[in-house]
Amino acid sequence: MAHLRLIRNAGSEFEADHTVDGVLEKGLWWAERIFGLRSCAVLLLDEEAGVLRMFKSRGYRPSDAVRLNLRPGEGLEGRAFQERCPLQSAMIEGVRVSVPLVTAEGTMGVLAADLPRNEPLTADELDLLGLFAANVSASLHNARLAERASADAARLQMRARDLAALNEIGMHIATFTDLDSLIEGAMKLACQSLFFRSCALLLKDGDELVLRGHYGFGEGVGSGLKIPRSQGIAWRCADRGEPLLVPDVAADPGHQPGFSDACCEMAAPIHGPFGVVGVLVAESPKVHSFNDTSLELFATFAHQVASALENARLHETNRNTFYQTIRALAQALEMRDSYTHGHSERVRKYSIEIARLLELSPHDIEILEQASLLHDIGKIGVRDSVLLKTTTLDVEERAAIERHPVIGDSILHPVGFLREALESVLHHHEHFDGTGYPSGLKGEEIPLVARIIAVADSYDAMTSDRPYRRAMDPQEAIREIERGCGLHFDPKVVAAFLATIGLRFRLSGESAPLPMQAMD
Ligand SMILES: [Fe+2]
Repeated sequence: MAHLRLIRNAGSEFEADHTVDGVLEKGLWWAERIFGLRSCAVLLLDEEAGVLRMFKSRGYRPSDAVRLNLRPGEGLEGRAFQERCPLQSAMIEGVRVSVPLVTAEGTMGVLAADLPRNEPLTADELDLLGLFAANVSASLHNARLAERASADAARLQMRARDLAALNEIGMHIATFTDLDSLIEGAMKLACQSLFFRSCALLLKDGDELVLRGHYGFGEGVGSGLKIPRSQGIAWRCADRGEPLLVPDVAADPGHQPGFSDACCEMAAPIHGPFGVVGVLVAESPKVHSFNDTSLELFATFAHQVASALENARLHETNRNTFYQTIRALAQALEMRDSYTHGHSERVRKYSIEIARLLELSPHDIEILEQASLLHDIGKIGVRDSVLLKTTTLDVEERAAIERHPVIGDSILHPVGFLREALESVLHHHEHFDGTGYPSGLKGEEIPLVARIIAVADSYDAMTSDRPYRRAMDPQEAIREIERGCGLHFDPKVVAAFLATIGLRFRLSGESAPLPMQAMD
């Protein structure tokens, strides 16, 4: 009865523990105490190797751990495991006993023990030992399930984290439209979110892979670095067109010392519309840092980068076509009036200089480029007799000229791409003090882009020949702009104009504008 009570107490303790190690530790401690064992061990089946291995023991020597690595059916322990029944045998000093650890899913191992006695265990004693082993088995089974569930949960959590990181990277890189920002942003995000030490994008250029961007390689590695054909992991990946994992770089037969001290590498191809256009490489300073899951994730990242690169390329092509069309429109207008030749392009360049000093965003500068090139497009709707008149305009003719911002707005309104530039085309003749046209807007009611164009437009108009007057000296034109500060022009824009274009002409002391190339 005392044994039964102890076995019940021990069982309660096993149940409370949810780790395999904890159950075995407590199991052996209780087995030793209840049954007076000299030594005891738990052997568990290593399913992959098909061998019973000593997992935990008390009182055994290290050499016993080797002896007790057995195949099922081998030795007393192997037979107890295979036959699923307790077995014992007499030794010179004592008795050796082995009891299988059985669950509903099968036999997981055996409890092996040596007892310091000469007579064999009775049937009742073997039953008690069997009952004890059944308690250990049940708790062990539950602990294994709990550990597997916990490992699965951790794996799922890690997978969810990786997928969330990929999703975030995808959203970020989709917002980049220029290539440099796209590459820089993608490399940085990948390293930070997917835990690479360094990451690089190499693009194919004939028989070389050229480093186009990287993150984490340090100062010594510069863009433009070239890898000749068929050298290293990157080229192998490019040639195969498949992701490649090299867990131990030094042991890789194709390894060639590259531009880093990486010990573990992954490479994934960047596919373009007509084949592999480049390779993404990720590195770690520790061998075996990446596994198949990392590679799968990295290959998905490479797909994201490939689509973003293709989008950026298409965007660039569209943008170039778009600007060619805008320039053609502006030139069509200028063809009517030889005096305005190059006016739109000069207004664009002056406006951009002012905008950069005022720290406009790249997006606003793009709007400014469009609006400055097209600001006078409405003059297409003004008849030649007015537009090209060399004498003073009468009231009606002036009104016809002053309709050009509204006509420009009507012409461009159907072009969706230009929607944001429209308001600046419409308001580039508004005055800061509210005396301009077409709407009489005042101060900051006038879009900033329009206020910038107003200054650049006036300056270029004054310093260019017109049918009705000669070009004004730049110094005098600058003084005119200064006189218009706060009246026609926004003081903030005038200050930026004076600090850039104005300052340059004053310093140069020249009476004609510098060549446009000198202003780039
Ligand atoms: Fe105008």
